[in-house]
Amino acid sequence: MFMNFRRIHKCQCVQLITTGLVLCVVMACWEELDHHVVSHMRSYTYRYLVNSYDFLNSSFAITSNQKDGSNGADGGLGSHSYLINHPGKCGGGGEDGEDVLLLLFVKSSPENFERRQAIRDTWGNESFVRSELGASVRLVFALGVHPDVRQRSRVQRALLQEDQVYRDLIQQNFLDTFHNLTTKLILQFHWSHEYCPQANFLMSADDDIFVHMPNLVKYLRQLLGTQSGAKDLWVGHVHRGAPPIRRKDSKYHVPYDLYPWPSYPDYTAGAGYVVSGDVAAKIYHATLVLNSSMYIDDVFMGFCAKATGVSPQEHVYFSGEGKAPYHPCIYYHMITSHGHATDVRSLWKAATDPRLFRHSRGFMGNLYCTVMRVMLLCLPYHQNTYSCMAAFT
Ligand SMILES: *[C@@H]1O[C@H](CO)[C@@H](O)[C@H](O)[C@H]1NC(C)=O
Ligand SMILES: *[C@@H]1O[C@H](CO)[C@@H](O)[C@H](O)[C@H]1NC(C)=O
Ligand SMILES: *[C@@H]1O[C@H](CO)[C@@H](O)[C@H](O)[C@H]1NC(C)=O
Ligand SMILES: *[C@@H]1O[C@H](CO)[C@@H](O)[C@H](O)[C@H]1NC(C)=O
Repeated sequence: MFMNFRRIHKCQCVQLITTGLVLCVVMACWEELDHHVVSHMRSYTYRYLVNSYDFLNSSFAITSNQKDGSNGADGGLGSHSYLINHPGKCGGGGEDGEDVLLLLFVKSSPENFERRQAIRDTWGNESFVRSELGASVRLVFALGVHPDVRQRSRVQRALLQEDQVYRDLIQQNFLDTFHNLTTKLILQFHWSHEYCPQANFLMSADDDIFVHMPNLVKYLRQLLGTQSGAKDLWVGHVHRGAPPIRRKDSKYHVPYDLYPWPSYPDYTAGAGYVVSGDVAAKIYHATLVLNSSMYIDDVFMGFCAKATGVSPQEHVYFSGEGKAPYHPCIYYHMITSHGHATDVRSLWKAATDPRLFRHSRGFMGNLYCTVMRVMLLCLPYHQNTYSCMAAFT
C-alpha cells in the first residue's frame, strides 16, 4: 500500500514536471509566435487596406547636398569604379548595339568560381542559346571585391585570369558582402543603362539558381509577340505585403529607424526575376534619386518600382526561394528553381533532354502530368516549391 502511494506520487511528480516544462516551452515560443502572427496581420492589413507607399518618394529621396557625396555604401549613387568591365559585350550601347533578347546578370561572389563555371556550361551558354534556340542572350556576372583583405589579392588575380578566358565578369570596387547587395543591384541597372540599353529584357539571378533557358526564351518571345507584353513588365515570384523583420538575430533584420512602416511595397524574390527594357530604364532613373540605405536588394528594387509606378507580376514557375521537384512533368514548365549550387549540370541534362516530352503529350500525357504535378506541389508536406496553382497550368 505504502509502496503504491509512493509510486503514484512519483508518477504525479513526473507528470507535473512534464506539464510544467511543456507550458514553459509553449510560453517561450508564444511570444515569438505572437510577434510573428501580429506583424503579419499588421503588414497584410496595411498592404490590403491602406496600400499607400507615397512616403517612399519623400522619405527615401536623396537630398541635393548629399548627391555629390556619391557613396554607394550608405545611400549614394552607386558610382564605384569598374575594376573589370566589358563595355562591348552587347555590341556597344545605343543605335549600333546588337539586337539582344535578354541581358542576364548573375549576382556572384569573387570566390564562387565553380558556380560560374557550371552556369557557363549549362543554362548560361550563349552559343547554345544562339544555335539551339536562335536567340541572342548576353551573360555577365556582377561582382564586388573579396571582403577579406588577406585573400583579396590572390582572389583578384584568379578573377583576372578567369576573365581573360571568358570575358564575362563585371566588377566594381565595393566589398562583396550581404549588406552591399543593393550596391550590386545598382551596378546591374547602371551597367545595362550605359552599355546595353537596347536589350528587350533584363534578368537578375543568384548564382545558385537554375534557369530553364528554353522555357524562358519561349516565354519572352511570346511576350514580344503581343502588343503590350514586352512593356511595363516585372515578373517573378512576388512577395505581397511582406513585413520588415525586426528580430535582431535575423540576416534580414531591418531597424525601425531605417524603415518604420509595417510592410514593404510588393517585390519579387531576388533569386531570379525579369524586367522589360523600359522598366530597366525606369529603375535606373529611380536609383539616381532614391536613398539606397535599404540593404535588402529585392526590397530596394520594390522601392524603385513603386516610385516609378511599376508593379510586379506573379509567374507560378518562378520559384523564389523554393526548389523545383525533380520530375519531367515539372521540367516542361519550369523557369527558375533555387538552391542548385551543386547539381546544375545534372539538372540541365535532365531538364533539356529532347526525349523528355514524349510522355507528356496528348490527352493521356496531359492528364498524367497534371496528376503528377498535383502530387508534387499540392500535398501539404511539399513546401518551399512552386505553388499548388502551378499544377494546373
Ligand atoms: C540615406 O539615409 C540614411 C539614413 O537612413 C542617411 O544616414 C544617409 O545620409 C542618406 N543618404 C543620402 C545620400 O541621402
Ligand atoms: C555551349 O553550347 C555549344 C552549342 O550547343 C556547344 O558546342 C558547347 O560545347 C557548349 N559549351 C559548353 C562549355 O558546354
Ligand atoms: C560596402 O562596400 C563599401 C565600399 O567598399 C565598404 O566601404 C562598406 O564597408 C561595405 N559595406 C558593407 C556593409 O559591407
Ligand atoms: C511618387 O510616388 C508615386 C507612386 O507612389 C509615383 O507615381 C510618382 O511619380 C512619384 N513621384 C516622384 C516625384 O517620384
